[in-house]
Amino acid sequence: MAGRVEGKVALVTGAASGLGKAAAAMLVREGARVAVTDRNEPGAKDVAAALGGAARSWKLDVTQEPEWQRVVDEVLATFGRLDVVVNNAGVGIAKDVESLSLEEWRFVHSVNLDGVFLGCKHAIRGMRQCGAKGSIINISSVAGLVGGDNLAAYCSSKGGVRLLTKSVALHCARKGYGIRCNSVHPTFIETPMVDGLASLAGDVAAGKAKLARMIPLGHIGEPDDIAYAVVYLASDESKMMTGSELVVDGGTTAM
Ligand SMILES: NC(=O)c1ccc[n+]([C@@H]2O[C@H](COP(=O)([O-])OP(=O)(O)OC[C@H]3O[C@@H](n4cnc5c(N)ncnc54)[C@H](O)[C@@H]3O)[C@@H](O)[C@H]2O)c1
Repeated sequence: MAGRVEGKVALVTGAASGLGKAAAAMLVREGARVAVTDRNEPGAKDVAAALGGAARSWKLDVTQEPEWQRVVDEVLATFGRLDVVVNNAGVGIAKDVESLSLEEWRFVHSVNLDGVFLGCKHAIRGMRQCGAKGSIINISSVAGLVGGDNLAAYCSSKGGVRLLTKSVALHCARKGYGIRCNSVHPTFIETPMVDGLASLAGDVAAGKAKLARMIPLGHIGEPDDIAYAVVYLASDESKMMTGSELVVDGGTTAM
């Protein structure tokens, strides 16, 4: 199938790398014009350049509200509309509750939770401004559904994303905006973030093999496994879905 999001305009955060980069590419392939955003400005620029004329890049640190204000305004001015916002930017610190500092706790929540809050807020503003019946897609994690002993701040922030998503969905439904909001819950996927996690085992390959053993399907996912979920939620195929959790985890949370 092609053209599943034809005519739509999507903004993706954290799109210089990993899942955001894959989602931006698939959205373009399926007919959308895409605002590739990241706090890593050169990285976002490179990704947009590789995607051709349907993509443009912006520097956007999701923790900074003035940047959200400016970027959403500029995307509307550039593309004329805003139909999809993928709140993907995220960070992880692999520490348990005893070893985590308050500063680290706040840093993880500022990106993973404050950033998604601001993303939802400004997505609604931009979508209402152009009359779009839009779709907000929040990238949570399996760690937003079940706990992990050494992921105290990450689990807390991703669990927060899960319920913030439901609140946003119900608010938009109640107001009759026609704007939907859903969360996506990936298991371990092959990206630089997982390389970081795997390297804690000393050897990245051994670390990845260990992570793969935690997944019933027996292997780590590919970024496109999540991009397919994003395209589905971005498209009108999912028009009856809001406040839902799309779990893409190879069976991880089925146990
Ligand atoms: N890879 C996985 O296994 C996995 C599993 C579950 C959930 N996730 C989630 O998926 C999302 C993407 O992760 P990834 O694996 O692609 O990671 P990644 O590290 O490859 O990419 C994250 C991107 O976010 C950007 N970023 C970080 N802080 C930012 C900020 N304040 N403002 C804007 N951009 C910022 C980084 O520059 C980077 O380009 C994250 O929310 C992550 O928690 C990943």
